[in-house]
Amino acid sequence: MATLADAGLTFSTLPHPAPTSAETREAILANPGFGTNFSDHMVVVEWTEGKGWHDAVVGPRQPIALDPAAAVLHYAQEIFEGLKAYKQADGSIALFRPEANAARFNKSAERLAMPELPEALFIEAIERLVQADRDWIPAAEGASLYLRPFMIATEAFLGVRPAKSYKFIVIASPAGNYFKSGAPAVSIWVSDYTRAAPGGTGAAKCGGNYAASLVPQAEAISRGHDQVVFLDAAEHKWIEELGGMNLYFVFEDGTLLTPALTGTILPGITRDSLLQLAREEGLKVEEGKYSLDQWREDATSGKLVETFACGTAAVVTPVGKVSGRDGAFTIGTGGPGQLTAKLKNRLVSIQRGETPDTHGWIHKI
Ligand code: COI
Repeated sequence: MATLADAGLTFSTLPHPAPTSAETREAILANPGFGTNFSDHMVVVEWTEGKGWHDAVVGPRQPIALDPAAAVLHYAQEIFEGLKAYKQADGSIALFRPEANAARFNKSAERLAMPELPEALFIEAIERLVQADRDWIPAAEGASLYLRPFMIATEAFLGVRPAKSYKFIVIASPAGNYFKSGAPAVSIWVSDYTRAAPGGTGAAKCGGNYAASLVPQAEAISRGHDQVVFLDAAEHKWIEELGGMNLYFVFEDGTLLTPALTGTILPGITRDSLLQLAREEGLKVEEGKYSLDQWREDATSGKLVETFACGTAAVVTPVGKVSGRDGAFTIGTGGPGQLTAKLKNRLVSIQRGETPDTHGWIHKI
């Protein structure tokens, strides 16, 4: 496809007839939290078998009508992405690596038997929403406009096969810190449940993976922890990822290790960006296997000095304490480590336009 317009796809715009008052919006932006407040508009694009993508609209954010037999409600044919729009140091607005989200979205679509969404459509939909809701981007350090593109199967049909109609939707939510506690480091609980098995959907960003993480996550919280960490399904030995974030381990010699993308782990865009930034810092970075037993042993001996979680929502968050059925251990001092802070600063300063973008990661709107 040359351009979307060549393919007959143009967006219509229906501005919100009664947008949120400036006073209410400013109050939300002053303390956005995560995922509880939403901007005034949304994008909806339809897909129908035989017709492809059509009827792209930027309109008021409102409930969507779905037939009670819509396939998404029964067989969870749903995928999503998470990315952010940042106020730049010069006052402009930028997205961070939206092309990478578009590519991952299509990988998820393929795994869930959903139609491919052209990268240009994914990006234009997001750009248009951010333009419509540009007043919803918080300016405070650490804050941004979180964008949630998703696709759902809308066909009313109860047979188990890929649906013949879909909606691609983008909504936006002003975001501050993902973790409510605001603690300098989070604590994690080692789950007995597994998140993903070889050959399953672990590498896809689909709602079902997150639904399956809710009981383990609730267990972690009931035991006084912030997050759950999952081990591999086959041996229940190797560290995979948290409920919605990847993990990095930092050793005393400055080496970094992150679990390799074996097909059961979500290929995080923050994970990938940090991999590149750490290598440019001259650090040795490995993608490989790391067992829970080794983690405990290395943390106890002092060989492992830091651990951090990373993701679009969580950014870079230090892990201070780990507990499981076999007891608890502390990472380093239990608080934020130096290398974690350095890598976070490198990443965030690129995202906010404070450091030149030598990677082509910044997508100005
Ligand atoms: C993100 O980081 O964007 C995610 O989708 C993770 C989710 C737990 C909020």
